[in-house]
Amino acid sequence: MQTNLRLLMLLLITLITPMTYAKDAKPVEPTESKQNAAIATAHPLATQAAIQILKQGGNAFDAAITASAVLAVVEPYSSGLGGGGFWLLHRAKDNHTTMLDGREIAPLAASADMYLDKQGEVIPAASMNGAKAAGIPGVPAALVYLAKEYGQLPLQKSLATAIQLAKTGFPVDDFYQKMTKIRLSSLQQSPAASQLFLRDQKVPKIGTLIKQANLAKVLEAIAKQGKAGFYQGEVADKLVKQVQAAGGIWTKEDLAQYQIKLRQPVQFQYKDLKITTVDLPSSGGLVLNEIFNILQHYDLETMDQAQRVHIIVEAMRRAYRDRAEFMGDTDFVSVPSQRLRSKAYADHLIKTIQLDKATPSRDLPLTSHSDSQGKDTTHFSILDQQGNRVSATLSINYPFGSGFVAEGTGILLNNEMDDFSSKPNTPNVYGLVGTKANAIEPKKRMLSSMSPTFVENEQRFALIGSPGGSRIITMVLLGILEFEKGKTADEIVNAPRFHHQYLPDTIQLEPNLLSEKVQQQLTNMGHQLDQKTTPWGNMQLVIYNKQTATASAASDGRVIGQSQVLDSSLTKRR
Ligand code: DON
Repeated sequence: MQTNLRLLMLLLITLITPMTYAKDAKPVEPTESKQNAAIATAHPLATQAAIQILKQGGNAFDAAITASAVLAVVEPYSSGLGGGGFWLLHRAKDNHTTMLDGREIAPLAASADMYLDKQGEVIPAASMNGAKAAGIPGVPAALVYLAKEYGQLPLQKSLATAIQLAKTGFPVDDFYQKMTKIRLSSLQQSPAASQLFLRDQKVPKIGTLIKQANLAKVLEAIAKQGKAGFYQGEVADKLVKQVQAAGGIWTKEDLAQYQIKLRQPVQFQYKDLKITTVDLPSSGGLVLNEIFNILQHYDLETMDQAQRVHIIVEAMRRAYRDRAEFMGDTDFVSVPSQRLRSKAYADHLIKTIQLDKATPSRDLPLTSHSDSQGKDTTHFSILDQQGNRVSATLSINYPFGSGFVAEGTGILLNNEMDDFSSKPNTPNVYGLVGTKANAIEPKKRMLSSMSPTFVENEQRFALIGSPGGSRIITMVLLGILEFEKGKTADEIVNAPRFHHQYLPDTIQLEPNLLSEKVQQQLTNMGHQLDQKTTPWGNMQLVIYNKQTATASAASDGRVIGQSQVLDSSLTKRR
């Protein structure tokens, strides 16, 4: 991003951030602990707004509301009020940890075959574009819940910067342009979306101000009326009317009955690390647990690079296979979570791993549920001075979600329905396959890979996560392995990445990751290599060193995010 653009953003945030406490603010808890606060988000405006909220007496949960809402405005391609997400929360004063599940749900009129034609084939892009691709959003309900149960400030205050930014606009940067190009044709099909996010039906020029007056009104309605401001009344009426007019299936009842869920996080040990992460409907926790249980059996440190990549890939392959076979929303299907997480199951799996040979994925076919068959998102990490922690991954799924904006609301709808398995064993946009465990059912939550996570050992703890579709889980995995080696926040977010997800049966490699020699060694073991030309991920990481009582933070150097430790200068953007 050019310097002048960054200055403009800084100026905007200074101008619009209210500097006084709202009269009805809850009393601010004393901050006895002197620990640093730190924030990393995918956009400088969100980081700065969240830092301001901490400075104004908010806690990490207020800052999380601010970050979520500002990202909804300035990163419309990644997340928003029309989407969902998972907030992993830790409250310091009573050592309470929970998972706030604001994932979208399938509309009441949804059905398993809703994206299939008469021949039973998947209709191309039907679950990707337009109003019919959208699940019922969870973000507004989650923000209201977070403010009521965990925040110290009223919602009006935590949402103020997002409302102002929606009114005054944010400047287009090169990343916005890149995301818009990916989804141009989809945005062009929605008059309200193209009016907001395009100029003359084209990608806007750098510096163009994107103003979202209607979105500001919806945020104001939520600030005033809470959940009812979005899920009932005028906003809900407009959303349902517009969605139905565009061929979608939402009803007022869908919106009125939406509920967030609180879930017990998945917790397990890897070496000296305690890992706390999300449970179903995100597959992240179970898949990470399964992979780490397998890796526990190997001494990765003494292996050469090819051997190490091979073992990690074999663990990824098996866990992603089980993702496809077993995982779905546990409110609807029964998932053998305890078995998948058990040491006994890992013992069984390692017997199937050969040290010098890849196991073709076809030799691990999907079985038990196969009878009926089979890019953009955002993450932020926040630690406050009281030791409260938030690791949150939010999404509208693909860049700009469904590309559909409901006229008069400014709400860009998600295309999260594509995270369901539209047809057994038919890959979705991330190449993920599924079985009936993840088939579409009314009110069901679609299986996710979003994996906001806490990692902790004697010396340090980290709040970690990233967008990236199916690759999210392996990014978090590799990040944790780097953390275990004692790496810094900066080193961890910028470490090179590889990925395997069972199908397609290839190791995806970031550019310049492996030497020719290591590639050859892997090929000789029977691995198929898929050398990518562009890197992936947008990791946002906060680390706290308990021994030195200092926080550090880092934003993925691959994209435009920004991290900041409170009272220190802004970290440099690469
Ligand atoms: O919930 C999921 O797993 C996906 N909807 C996440 C999509 C995503 O990360 C896209 N970002 N690049």
